[in-house]
Amino acid sequence: MFRTFRGGQSGGWRITSISPVTGEPLAFMPTLSVTDSEAIALPLVPSRNAWRLVGVASSLRYTERPEKQHLTSVQAGLGRLEATSGALIPIRKSQAWWDLTQEERRRIFEDKSHHIANSLRFLPAIARQLYHCRDLGGPFDFLTWFEFAPAHASLFEELVAMLRRTEEWSYVEREVDVRAVKEVLSG
Ligand code: HEM
Repeated sequence: MFRTFRGGQSGGWRITSISPVTGEPLAFMPTLSVTDSEAIALPLVPSRNAWRLVGVASSLRYTERPEKQHLTSVQAGLGRLEATSGALIPIRKSQAWWDLTQEERRRIFEDKSHHIANSLRFLPAIARQLYHCRDLGGPFDFLTWFEFAPAHASLFEELVAMLRRTEEWSYVEREVDVRAVKEVLSG
């Protein structure tokens, strides 16, 4: 139920960079561990040599039926062997965003920013999963996670650059871009 991303001293992904995009950064840590659990201890107490971000893969808020069908027919799942590049992009949106109604947010998210329509062409190269965490009391509203083959690295840069130019992103008040490579055990 809970997915935990822990930046620290051990884990299956080696962190290559942590870039603050908007707002407060996250401390650099050498490794990222990604784990699932049925329960977590709250509050998420900060530690000096690790950070822990927890989210839940929740139900869809904005996606309409034809979009869902389209996504399901083209998207790839996480865990592909060749997808050894990972990106964890935690995001917090402003109070102004949360003060909008669901309909107003959908209008900005899709009718004006085309988040889904313009991202579809990046599938199946980029596999993705969105985790919600606004109601868990952490520093972010969303944890977004992506996996892709190193050959698709520039495609991923194109995708994030496109989204960051949208009206939706004018509501993003904190964003950090964590990049990692999967540690492949040899022998
Ligand atoms: C691989 C291409 C992508 C596709 C197909 C895609 C698709 C989607 C869809 C369908 C949703 C809506 C989920 C719902 O109905 O609640 C969503 C939400 C979201 N996506 Fe993407 N996305 C992509 C890339 C990205 C990237 C690169 C980022 C971050 C840089 C991102 C950040 C978000 C965030 C923060 C939300 C939650 C928005 C909110 O609820 O306010 N997405 N995405």
